[in-house]
This record gives sequence, structure tokens and C-alpha cells, in this order.
Amino acid sequence: MTAQLDQLLQSYIQQVDAQLEHIIPPATGPAAELNKAMRYSVFNGGKRVRPALCFAAAEAVAGSNDNTAKVAAAVEMIHAYSLIHDDLPAMDDDDLRRGVPTCHIQFDEATAILAGDALQSLAFKQLTELTDLPASTNLKLIAILSDLAGCNGMVSGQAVDLVSTGKQLSADELNYMHNHKTGALIEASVVMGALATDATTEQQIDALRQFARSIGLAFQIQDDILDVESSTEQLGKSQGSDSANNKATYTSILGVEKARTEAERLYQKSVDALSIFTDSADPLRGLAKFIVHRSF
Ligand code: IPE
Ligand code: IPE
Ligand code: MG
Ligand code: MG
Ligand code: MG
Repeated sequence: MTAQLDQLLQSYIQQVDAQLEHIIPPATGPAAELNKAMRYSVFNGGKRVRPALCFAAAEAVAGSNDNTAKVAAAVEMIHAYSLIHDDLPAMDDDDLRRGVPTCHIQFDEATAILAGDALQSLAFKQLTELTDLPASTNLKLIAILSDLAGCNGMVSGQAVDLVSTGKQLSADELNYMHNHKTGALIEASVVMGALATDATTEQQIDALRQFARSIGLAFQIQDDILDVESSTEQLGKSQGSDSANNKATYTSILGVEKARTEAERLYQKSVDALSIFTDSADPLRGLAKFIVHRSF
């Protein structure tokens, strides 16, 4: 990552963290334990790639505004909830996330389930607090997040992930799973970040969607590669978890080399999709590179 992109990323993270701090309840009162678990799972060092994509997509079309951090916070809360539930014993049964015990280990299973539930509904509440947007655009944002996070998006992919355990999937099945469980929320981040500026054209949204679909799939391929190649220390999550759980992954089905080639091809495709933009899309281009070349 260039120093310039790193600086930009830090400013995006600062803005979304301030918004998350504002909307997530303090860990006090009768439900203090729930709020503590929500905070624990949001403020523990995530890379904040999805919020960064919201900001970078806004930059590409018109520049970020007061709504960008709110949309970014909504997407990150959905992401945090998805990770809490993904780590549960009934799903991937993982003990370590971002270098610390997973939510259900640090608290308990019931609290972790509820923390995920509460983060999900808070994300939609956040989208009712956007300002200076036509109601039709605001509703569109809510519909996009609902679709891409739920049974037409991330949750559908997670369901396929569960039934695919131990199976040899076809390329189409593998892509369906990855596009939904991970690609969908990446697409939501990019498209919502742009739409919340209220200054986009259809052509720009189409290009951004193509960008997001390619880099979203590449994101999960790289995640599968890192599960094989990285270390627990570097990842902050247990290396080898996928093979221990007999998961269907890009690497288990195609091997590491083919997975790497595919991630690289998708990276090129994602950057090509941005050709209608000038250097206003450089933050998106930089993030795409980071996504496929990251080591954690
Ligand atoms: C991990 O996402 C889960 C996947 C969808 C692959 P990230 O790699 O973005 O996780 P954090 O937020 O940085 O911990
Ligand atoms: C994550 O896939 C997908 C979602 C959380 C929606 P993984 O199960 O591969 O993510 P990690 O590796 O646990 O972060
Ligand atoms: Mg999983
Ligand atoms: Mg997992
Ligand atoms: Mg993984």
C-alpha cells in the first residue's frame, strides 16, 4: 500500500469509527453485557475494508459527504454481526478473531447471538438517519442493504457454505457461494457509498457494480488463500480453520496456484471496470490492489 493510500485509509477509518462510537450504545445499563459484546466485536481492529470502499466509491463520483460515514457504519455493523455469527460453534466454530477470543468465547454463545442480532438492526436504524437525500434514494439504500446482506446476499452464501462442507463444488457453485457470502456486502459498500452522494449516473453505478463484483469475489479467494498460506499471528484468526472444518474453498477445490491466478484475473477485471473514471477512482484502484495482495 502506498503512503498516500494508507493516509487516506486512516482518515476513512477515523470517520467511520467516530460514527460507530456515536451509534452503538455505551456498555452501561441493564443490557450492559450485550452492549459490551457489540462494542467488543466492532472496536477490535478490523481492517475496515468495507467502510473504506464506501468512502472511495463516494470519492470516485462526487466526493464524500455527511452521509458517507453513516452508510459506512451501517455496512460495517452488518459485517461485524456476520463475523460474530460465522464464528459460532454451529457455524465455523472459531475461537480467535482479530487476534482476540471470538465473541462467544469472550462472552457466551447466547450473548454473541444477541450482539449479532442487535448490530444488524442498528445498521438499518443508521440508514434512517441520512440527511438531505430524496426519500426514494434513502429507501433504495435500505433495499440494497437488505437484499445484499440477507437471503438474496450474504446469508444465502453462508447457507450454501454450510451445506457445501466436505463437498466437491462445481465452479459455478463455488462462485455462487463466494459471490454471496462475501461479494454481496462488498457490492453493497461500493454501490451505497456512491448512491449516498445523490450525484451518480446509471453508467457510473453500473461500472461500480462491475468493479465490486470482481473485487468481491477476489476478496474471498484471497481469504481462502490466506487460510492456507498465512500464520495465525498474522491473520489474527486460526490458520487452517477451513481445512480443519473440511470447508469447500477456492484452494481446496482448485489449489492455491489456480486460486491465485483467478484472484489476479479478477483484480485486473475490477480495475478495467473503472476505466470511465479519472483519478477520482484512484482510492478504489488502490483498495482493489490491497484486497488481492494483502497478507492478513
Ligand atoms: C473476513 O473479512 C470475513 C470475510 C468475508 C472473508 P475481513 O478480512 O474484512 O475481516 P476484518 O473486518 O478485517 O477482521
Ligand atoms: C466469511 O467467510 C463470510 C462471512 C462472514 C459472511 P469465512 O468463514 O471464510 O471468513 P473468516 O475466514 O472466518 O473470516
Ligand atoms: Mg465461514
Ligand atoms: Mg469463518
Ligand atoms: Mg475464511
